Amino acid sequence: MTKALRKAVFPVAGLGTRFLPATKATAKEMLPVVDKPLIQYAVEEARAAGIEQFCMVTGRGKTALVEHFDVAYELEATLRERDKQDAMQLLAGTQVEPGSMVAVRQQVPLGLGHAIWCARAFIGADPFAILLPDDLVLADRPCLSQLAEVHAETGGNVIAVTEVERAHTSRYGIVDPGADDGRMVEVKGLVEKPAPEKAPSTLSIIGRYILTAEVLPHLARMERGAGNEVQLTDAMARLIGSQPFHALRYEGRRFDCGDKAGFLEAQIAFALKRPDLAPAVRDFLRRYV
Ligand code: G1P
Repeated sequence: MTKALRKAVFPVAGLGTRFLPATKATAKEMLPVVDKPLIQYAVEEARAAGIEQFCMVTGRGKTALVEHFDVAYELEATLRERDKQDAMQLLAGTQVEPGSMVAVRQQVPLGLGHAIWCARAFIGADPFAILLPDDLVLADRPCLSQLAEVHAETGGNVIAVTEVERAHTSRYGIVDPGADDGRMVEVKGLVEKPAPEKAPSTLSIIGRYILTAEVLPHLARMERGAGNEVQLTDAMARLIGSQPFHALRYEGRRFDCGDKAGFLEAQIAFALKRPDLAPAVRDFLRRYV
């Protein structure tokens, strides 16, 4: 029987150099899309998929990420005193069960695989989700919930994938596809950031994974891959054959918020979904284009 999925890991130790100077003294995952920081979207998505335990893999200067999910006593007391119900309501998504969130440090930036390995004590022997907050998914049904549904059926490992232009395969982990029913794809192989002419397909991994703990011993080998980093993709590839491994073409739109243009596009797309903002945004967009 497949163990229930209750744990999620959030690798958030990156320096955010692509967003300097904004990220000089602030974590890039604290940058808001409309009015909510990227990390909160990720935590809310995890919670919607039944996750109860959260592990942030952080680094120096990233304490705001953990603070964000703590009680802000003075702020909350002041809001209560002034009877600011609406403002209090806005904080609801930042409240997590006492003791349900932990942070571990990734002291050196050796890659995504190394970041996940840093969470090994938290993961233990349980299946776990990974959410990369840079990848923001706009979907009617949250992306991780879609993966969790597949995972409950298939067990093993499930990753979210989307088609990219062949010219862009070198930015992503790419799937070597087996049986494909148009929605779910059997994963025969995985390659991290292949050159377009070497990519086995144009199906790219986005930052949503459900994996078994068996990936940990492969990460522990600390083998360097693309970019001389310890790659999660390489460790996952070693599970293929011994465990079920599926990719899901999720329903929704993904925005790469690690990229300036992607981040700006996310602002517009998410604002257009908000009844309080959409009319004004539609109106000013018309004036610009
Ligand atoms: C990471 C993964 C890559 C994946 C991507 C999704 O790359 O290594 O396989 O496709 O996230 O955003 P990074 O963006 O950290 O270079």
